Amino acid sequence: MPERMHSHHRVFVTRPVADAALRRLADSARVDLWDDDTPPPHEELIARIRDCDAVLSMVSDRLDGPVIAAAPRLIAISNLAVGVDNIDLAAATRAGVAVGHTPGVLTETTADLAFALMLAAARRVAEGDRFVRAGRWRMWTPRLMLGRDVWGATLGVIGWGAIGQAVARRATGFGMRVLYAAHHSAKTSTNAANASKSNRHAAAKDKTVAIETVPPPGAECVELGRLLAESDFISLNVPLTPQTHHLIGVKELAAMKRGAILVNTARGSVIDQPALVEALRAGHLGGAGLDVTETEPIDPADPLLKLPNVVITPHIGSASHATRLRMAELAVDNILDVFAGRLPRRCANPAVKIRTPKRTSPPIAKPRK
Ligand code: DGY
Repeated sequence: MPERMHSHHRVFVTRPVADAALRRLADSARVDLWDDDTPPPHEELIARIRDCDAVLSMVSDRLDGPVIAAAPRLIAISNLAVGVDNIDLAAATRAGVAVGHTPGVLTETTADLAFALMLAAARRVAEGDRFVRAGRWRMWTPRLMLGRDVWGATLGVIGWGAIGQAVARRATGFGMRVLYAAHHSAKTSTNAANASKSNRHAAAKDKTVAIETVPPPGAECVELGRLLAESDFISLNVPLTPQTHHLIGVKELAAMKRGAILVNTARGSVIDQPALVEALRAGHLGGAGLDVTETEPIDPADPLLKLPNVVITPHIGSASHATRLRMAELAVDNILDVFAGRLPRRCANPAVKIRTPKRTSPPIAKPRK
């Protein structure tokens, strides 16, 4: 990473992100880049952010109370994700650290993957690919690899935020009936409600980011119980909060229609994973499409990996070239906003009063021309 601008601000970036965004950050701050795709160990993270004003973090970095407390200069955490469940938001707010995140820019890309997983699980795409590569394809036969129709089926969306609505819009193109249950995501903190207000305000100024999405006509809001009982496919699109942890457990799985397919592009811990394995083994569920698991990466010995009707991808919901660039640019904007004395334009804790940091080492002098 070239060192360019030598402002007094220091930023630790915990993984290589899009070059263009990093260069822009380096124009305004001294950047310390963890140049590896595996996360810095927790102790290293603590050591590296000790003297930093900001950290550009990933969902796989744990920014808990002790990390925040160990960084007296820190005024901004900018997560390259919409989800902020890896951050102790309350501790950040108490410490006067603004938390930025990247909603909006990844909505459609994540909805694409949810739909891809739904189609893959229903039409046995990954299983068919393994079958062909194993040299087992002998002939066209009328009973080979029969799956389930997605078109015309009922989709239940749990979590009616931007991504849930984007999944639903795709479903209407497939002639699906759409049910949704919004109440669990609505249970998230007042912070989240305020955040969406502040984000809408910021979005009005920033035309490049579509925050508002249009819900598909005809989608019906129902109680969770009815959604579970009537849906052929269920897409989970809630943030992980204490209220949504294991939202789908033994009881909810049993309440699902026999043969239903569950898709999760939210967070692994929204599902009780051992309960899901049992429901799949017992043949009660028809399959699952999972982009996220309770432990990431998944243990190679995990029983889920033995089930042919499960399609698993490695948490790549937002992983398109264009979207990852937009996320990196927004994560940098969030940091620069705080350096300019404002809240991040996409702020997850808008009630925060950003602190005046204690200086632990002298500012870095600008080089002479
Ligand atoms: C998010 O944005 O929260 C994803 O999980 C990472 O892309």
